[in-house]
Amino acid sequence: MSTANLRPAFPGVGRRTFLDSASIGLVSTAARDAIAAFLARAEHDPQGAHHGDAFARARAAAAALIGATPETIALIPSTSLALNIAADAIPLAAGDNVVTTDLEFMSVVVPWVEKARVAGAEIRVARHRDGRIAPDDVIALMDGRTRAVTLSAVQWTNGFRMDVAPIGRACRDRDVPFVLDAIQQIGVVPFDAVESGADFVACGGHKWLCSPAATGFAYVSRRFAERFRPSLSYVPTSRPPLASWQASWTDPAYDPIRTYELKPAAARFEQGVHHGGLGATGLAASLALLLEAGPAAVWDRARSLADRVAGGVATLGLAVVSPLEPAARSGITVFATGRGPAGDLAVKEGLAAAGVDVNVRYTSGVGGVRVSTHAYNDEDDVDRFLDALRPLLAA
Ligand SMILES: Cc1ncc(COP(=O)(O)O)c(C=O)c1O
Repeated sequence: MSTANLRPAFPGVGRRTFLDSASIGLVSTAARDAIAAFLARAEHDPQGAHHGDAFARARAAAAALIGATPETIALIPSTSLALNIAADAIPLAAGDNVVTTDLEFMSVVVPWVEKARVAGAEIRVARHRDGRIAPDDVIALMDGRTRAVTLSAVQWTNGFRMDVAPIGRACRDRDVPFVLDAIQQIGVVPFDAVESGADFVACGGHKWLCSPAATGFAYVSRRFAERFRPSLSYVPTSRPPLASWQASWTDPAYDPIRTYELKPAAARFEQGVHHGGLGATGLAASLALLLEAGPAAVWDRARSLADRVAGGVATLGLAVVSPLEPAARSGITVFATGRGPAGDLAVKEGLAAAGVDVNVRYTSGVGGVRVSTHAYNDEDDVDRFLDALRPLLAA
């Protein structure tokens, strides 16, 4: 399949001009059909192996997309939950510190702020410079009391993509866990978990992965899984104490009060229901679609459309907020209307009335009107957006 064949898998593109994958993206027909088939089966065969099969397919596809192995993938239904699980597992004491940046989506820092307050620890913040975070500014904040570094691969209010590998290396050298939010990168810009050097990578399915909400995964390095324990445990995070769980359930002498050994690797961090393959089956189907199209081809397509957006708004006399150097590009292109946040919101509303979906996002003084281009978009989408934008600027 090429990216040209991707568009038919998203019938939503025929109804509106959808340029908002960075918020909640379109779900593919592949995901819808897989979920429908799963539900149809539940009507007559609710207990089959299809739950486990769906989990296995989702883990394998997620691993293939980020250059990892299925054992390093934990299925976790949101980025925010995954980031919480990581933060919860890492001990923090008085005098310790956690390093982050001032551009982060709140889910990246929320788990740490309260934890640091209770522990008497410090949150150290690398400040952006013109919407960019320099890896060296993050590394410079680390010292012998740094217990974690946590930030995003691609920033949500300007699409800035960061070279996280130097931070990954610095964390390895100092034996500090590196927790990375990659929801705004994976699925549109190729991402290699091992090259990133991150120990824990969180990614929800509902943006660039074209999957339903309440799906997602985390990559968990072997080192992280060996060193840290989740504070919540349930049956699938443990090894069966007998030959299998089935053996335990059918043994009249089984005493449930005993020591349960955690599963090795990423599986120990999964949370939720183990007979709930519904979301996983949708995630697996959309990931298969992206893998078939090819991550490099997906990015080529999305990037050329992002460049068309940037070029188009610049031609209309607007300032592009997103850093435009190729290494910092992502599927997000943000521009300023020059009329402040209220003007940006008015433009968003005007575009919505014309059938074009974009969004407005700001943090720490960085942001504007956010236009997202995925590989299922095309040049006509971008041109319709520009045509709808032109009269709004004259108003
Ligand atoms: C960078 C970033 N992280 C996390 C989230 C939230 O993800 P989830 O809904 O999967 O918790 C968002 C959503 O806007 C985001 O932009």
